[in-house]
Amino acid sequence: MKGSEIRQKFLDFFAKNGHTMVPSSSLLPDDPSVLLTTAGMQQFKPYYTGAADAMRDFQALNTTSSQKCFRTSDIDEVGDDTHLTFFEMLGNFSFGGYLKEGAIRLAHEFITRELDLKISYVTIFEGSHGVPKDDESRAVWQSLDIKDIREEGINDVFWGPTGASGPCGPTTEIYCTNANGKDVEVWNLVFNQFFYAGSREELLAQTPGKALEPLKTPGVDTGMGLERLVMIAQKKRNLFETDLFAPFVELVPHELDERVRRVIVDHIRGSAFLIADGVRPSNKEVGYVLRRLLRRVFAFEELYKMPVHIIDALLHDIVHEYGETYKDLGAKADTVRAEVTAERERFMRTLKSGIKEINNLPTIDAIVAFNLYQSFGISYEIIKDVAKEKAASLVREDFEAELQKHQEKSRQGAEKKFGGHGLMFDTGELKAKDATELQKVTRLHSATHLLQASLRKVLGADVHQMGSDITVERTRFDFAFGRKMTQDELKAVEDLINSAIEKDYTVTKKLLPFDDAVKTGALYFFKEKYPETVNVYTFGTPDESEVFSREFCGGPHVTHTREIGKFRILKEEASSAGVRRIRATIEP
Ligand code: GLY
Repeated sequence: MKGSEIRQKFLDFFAKNGHTMVPSSSLLPDDPSVLLTTAGMQQFKPYYTGAADAMRDFQALNTTSSQKCFRTSDIDEVGDDTHLTFFEMLGNFSFGGYLKEGAIRLAHEFITRELDLKISYVTIFEGSHGVPKDDESRAVWQSLDIKDIREEGINDVFWGPTGASGPCGPTTEIYCTNANGKDVEVWNLVFNQFFYAGSREELLAQTPGKALEPLKTPGVDTGMGLERLVMIAQKKRNLFETDLFAPFVELVPHELDERVRRVIVDHIRGSAFLIADGVRPSNKEVGYVLRRLLRRVFAFEELYKMPVHIIDALLHDIVHEYGETYKDLGAKADTVRAEVTAERERFMRTLKSGIKEINNLPTIDAIVAFNLYQSFGISYEIIKDVAKEKAASLVREDFEAELQKHQEKSRQGAEKKFGGHGLMFDTGELKAKDATELQKVTRLHSATHLLQASLRKVLGADVHQMGSDITVERTRFDFAFGRKMTQDELKAVEDLINSAIEKDYTVTKKLLPFDDAVKTGALYFFKEKYPETVNVYTFGTPDESEVFSREFCGGPHVTHTREIGKFRILKEEASSAGVRRIRATIEP
């Protein structure tokens, strides 16, 4: 059975058993306390806590999905037999429909009858932290003639919470034997019985004042990595020999080290999905995750003189393979390719010098590594890949510590630079070498706010920002809008901005708690992770009887709009499906 058939078989099996099929949610979760989606249950959290109603939204108490997941914690292991960054998680969920017995019987039937696999053993929770031993699960497994039932502790068989708080509970795991005769965990069945108003770390530490509360809607959340399941079902020794990966690995030159070939495939696959979900390479948060994946691949291209068409072919085949199941990826094929190419161009300028520098260095410790990153944009992984023994003593923790030290310093520096007002929220949009550049990008930045407001006034309030990029030469603004703008519309927008500039609106900044800031009606990115307090920038008359634009923003901005100068739109074009891009500049 092909990997794609196994995915479909899973979804069909649960649909047949009273589950509504729900499409995968984005890799960028709505929960601001979580960086990336790491499990199928992420999108369903509100259905356990009672914040959302499954019956209303799914016309059923049970759902099933194949969820896009990304785990950064496994990045250093990628290239071995079983670890990936991006993977698909098959899951079935119940919000008050069935509990332990129902979940275990369904899982048993799927593994042993639908897939005809043998369960080598299962695990159950041994009991601790005030939660009793899971005798109920044991009894169900016994009734299904499973003999090897192992008890494990809270670290292994107790799920959640994910993020700052959430549902959690004991789990039972199913193990099967792979082609090497090794037992691997294939399926984790979670019994969400509790709500914990804290993080998993706090739970494990038994933080005083925090206790497991009964969950409003106790239920089931299961997670099974598709790639691993396929490895077992296809009797392969590693993930990369399954039909989900083998054709991709085949595209990478055979003379490269096997581990490197796997890393390239994993990273390009992960990058494609991240880009399709709206992530762009940057030096922060998810943007930084993406940048590291891509740059590592580009470093391999450079080291092994791989022509760029290999990555192009990989991207093409990945979109082809997954585009149907994950529609966002299918729709964003061009954006994915364009972003990969753009990041390669950005990096190529410094990569070669960086590699040369590494080759000239006798040894590389954390400080040297950080300097390489600073000067050449070469990340930790690349240093390890390129420098090999010379960087043998370099470990990730030390590198990250250097990075943090520096980020703290530069944050303080930025605050000084902007007259103590600070970059409360660094969008990573503004970069400037010196004071002159800073002034120019600041003016362009303010112009970008006027642009967003004007687009909404001319085209309607559905228009919203999808991304922006500001250099000393121009601003580039991406926004959701379904068609090409007409010449008249472009002129109307340009005129509106120039008249707002002429009115010399006052620009004011207010620091507000997040919820209050939302209430002002200011525009913001739903997907961004905002701190507890945010700056809201308003462009309008000093008494605010007229407000032209209001947005969440880290700044900096001009104080009066006339400082911006004359605004000119250079180009309007498609950026990707449903997204338009405007390039504009200001004249002195
Ligand atoms: N939420 C269950 C799992 O990810 O294993």
